[in-house]
Amino acid sequence: MTDATASSSGSSSVPSPIAPPADGELAGRHLLLGVTGGVAAFKACELARELQRRGATVQVAMTDAATKFIGTATFQALTGRPVYTDAWDGRIDNGMPHIDLSRGADAILVAPATADFMAKVAHGLADDLLSTLVLARDCPLLVAPAMNRQMWSAAATQRNVATLRADGVAVLGPGAGEQACGETGDGRMLEAQQLVEETIAFFAPKQLAGRRVLVTAGPTFEPIDPVRGITNLSSGKMGYAIARACRHAGAEVVLVSGPTALDAPLGVRRVDVRSAREMLAAVQAELAGQDLFVAVAAVADWRVANASTRKLKKTEGGGPPALEFAQNPDILASVASMPGGPYCVGFAAETEDLEANAQDKRRRKGVPLLVGNIGQATFGRDDNELLLIDAQGTTTLPRASKTRLAAALVGEIARRLPQARC
Ligand code: C5P
Repeated sequence: MTDATASSSGSSSVPSPIAPPADGELAGRHLLLGVTGGVAAFKACELARELQRRGATVQVAMTDAATKFIGTATFQALTGRPVYTDAWDGRIDNGMPHIDLSRGADAILVAPATADFMAKVAHGLADDLLSTLVLARDCPLLVAPAMNRQMWSAAATQRNVATLRADGVAVLGPGAGEQACGETGDGRMLEAQQLVEETIAFFAPKQLAGRRVLVTAGPTFEPIDPVRGITNLSSGKMGYAIARACRHAGAEVVLVSGPTALDAPLGVRRVDVRSAREMLAAVQAELAGQDLFVAVAAVADWRVANASTRKLKKTEGGGPPALEFAQNPDILASVASMPGGPYCVGFAAETEDLEANAQDKRRRKGVPLLVGNIGQATFGRDDNELLLIDAQGTTTLPRASKTRLAAALVGEIARRLPQARC
């Protein structure tokens, strides 16, 4: 492995050692990752990788104290770029790394940010490369505090954090929990995946700022007996992606979810339900004050009316159980018919004649916007193609990952939101 300090490649970049996905959500973003001297610096290694996996290029600058925890060679190998620690580094052609390294950056992310580092930034001190870079920046600054709980709650730290926020710095976290010192409390640095999420959210246009959004997602499960039931192949991926994109767009989001294997998106409050009737009750309980209702759940049309409270047994010579079905409530239609209710968006999964069926569904359910899944077998896939149908006509969102489509759909909904109510 090359010694980072012996590199002579200056500010020129070599290809990233991590191939980003074609549609990475940070594609084209250049981030300066500042690492200061806390034990959470080990998480910055994973952070550097994950940011690149989402398509960002990452340039690392470290304080001297940070190098006591992690060597520069680790970050050099992870990013494919030389790592800078010294304001006098001769590898920058004009001898001004404190200026050059942040020019062209879309943001500086300092993770971990120690109490000392935040104090310096709050007071405009610039006595090493990273603090000078931060003072000389012309891009946004995000910091991920990491420290002992007493240091975090100290009046001086809280004053400094308030100053940073007032100066427009995005403070990500900290989280609470077990700390390296053995104590428990606030001050843990967020996990790498959480910081990546917050970085993606930071760059997302805030088209739903101040809005409240309710999303349903996933399948429902209609019991036959205590151990069996009827469900469908919905994975919940599209609904979860929409809930996440709404949160990235600045909304306060509640996700009412049928049984799925997915984690709730960061910052989204999830309410777990099983059956259609439970989903309806949860939606009704959450509905007050919502601006937008996006019904993505694949709700079972029928439930078993004579579900057994005991496990059904095979009996010698007895045939299969005689199941009787009852129609489930239509959650979307009931919300859409509420006077003064939220703007409603429905989904349609059709096997044939999507446009005509979706048009019909839009009118029947009384929703201003209906979104059709183009093509079959969208359940469980990571990509999709959508047809948007409203009173003005149709719009297609071409095939892309559900993450990308969700962001595009949120933009389409936001454009329609102020004018129309259900
Ligand atoms: O009638 P269909 O199931 O095709 O309609 C699909 C749309 O209606 C989706 O938005 C789905 O979430 C919603 N829906 C609902 N309650 C039902 C059935 C469907 O909210 N019982």
